[in-house]
Amino acid sequence: MKTIFPADLGHRERHQLLLGGVAPRPIAFVTSADSEGQVNLAPFSFFNAYSSRPPIVAIGPAIGAKSGLAKDTLLNILATQECTISAVTYSMVHRVNITSAPYPASVNEYHKAGFTEAKSSIVSVPFVAESPYALECKLIQNIELRRDIGGNGNLMMLEVVAFHVADSVLDEAGNIDPARMDLVGRMGQSWYSRANSLFKAVQPSHQPIGFDGLPEHILHSPVLTGNDLAQLAYVPILPMLDGSFPQFPEEFKADSIEIELAAGNPMGALFAMMQRPALRTELMRHRIAQAFIRNGMIDEAWQTLLLV
Ligand SMILES: Cc1cc2nc3c(=O)[nH]c(=O)nc-3n(C[C@H](O)[C@H](O)[C@H](O)COP(=O)(O)O)c2cc1C
Repeated sequence: MKTIFPADLGHRERHQLLLGGVAPRPIAFVTSADSEGQVNLAPFSFFNAYSSRPPIVAIGPAIGAKSGLAKDTLLNILATQECTISAVTYSMVHRVNITSAPYPASVNEYHKAGFTEAKSSIVSVPFVAESPYALECKLIQNIELRRDIGGNGNLMMLEVVAFHVADSVLDEAGNIDPARMDLVGRMGQSWYSRANSLFKAVQPSHQPIGFDGLPEHILHSPVLTGNDLAQLAYVPILPMLDGSFPQFPEEFKADSIEIELAAGNPMGALFAMMQRPALRTELMRHRIAQAFIRNGMIDEAWQTLLLV
């Protein structure tokens, strides 16, 4: 593994090294205006949320490394103390890219990229009507980052004073459905990621037994991965073998273990294993337990592993 010190790198290399690993970053599509009301639209991936009471986000519009000029967005927000931030979805991304071109301050990038201005409730600048999610923001504070050593960054802290959410991205319970949002993130270089490979990992509210609470024969499994082990280690107490496990209905039928595993059917694989005592090896139990884990059936995975 390489160890690299920022002082040993040129600006471009350092920029790419930072952004290749601090990724994917959400993209703030920022609308601001100068004191004459000239509207400006530009994307910023130095962006995140830092507080929800009150809701506070921050963006990082830099001073151009080559030009030495401040971005219009930075100057506008410093002048007017307000902006809107629209979320960037996959369907918007190439139009968003157009707005990142170095147009002069007199150009409204809404027109260049064919976006529609939607009227805000509190701030005077619009938000992007084509985006399903937007924030109206007021500037709290801008921190100039290490100008003493020639730093070109800014940390603009913004308080959210209104949210706009399209009905089309809400599920039946009124929560934002990430699949319907279809957001994109910025990676290093010119790479983007699309948030359409979604999975859940519920944050534990109890104290999991953890890796050091797993029995040795599970911890050193030749089959189970770190993610598999972690899903076993979420349990609050070490499970015991339930003497009634496994139970199959009388008419239950299964193919061979391999066919059942290939079909993603761990119950069938377990049934096949129970029919053939010679196949009841540790390796097989671990493979079947892994299939249970991948189906979200953690109790069954534990019981299979305990079937020694
Ligand atoms: C997806 C994306 C993310 C960007 N993120 C940033 C950023 O975080 N900070 C920055 O200074 N420039 C960033 N840029 C470049 C600015 O969008 C670009 O300099 C733009 O012309 C600034 O517009 P303005 O001068 O109208 O504010 C990004 C560009 C793209 C395409």
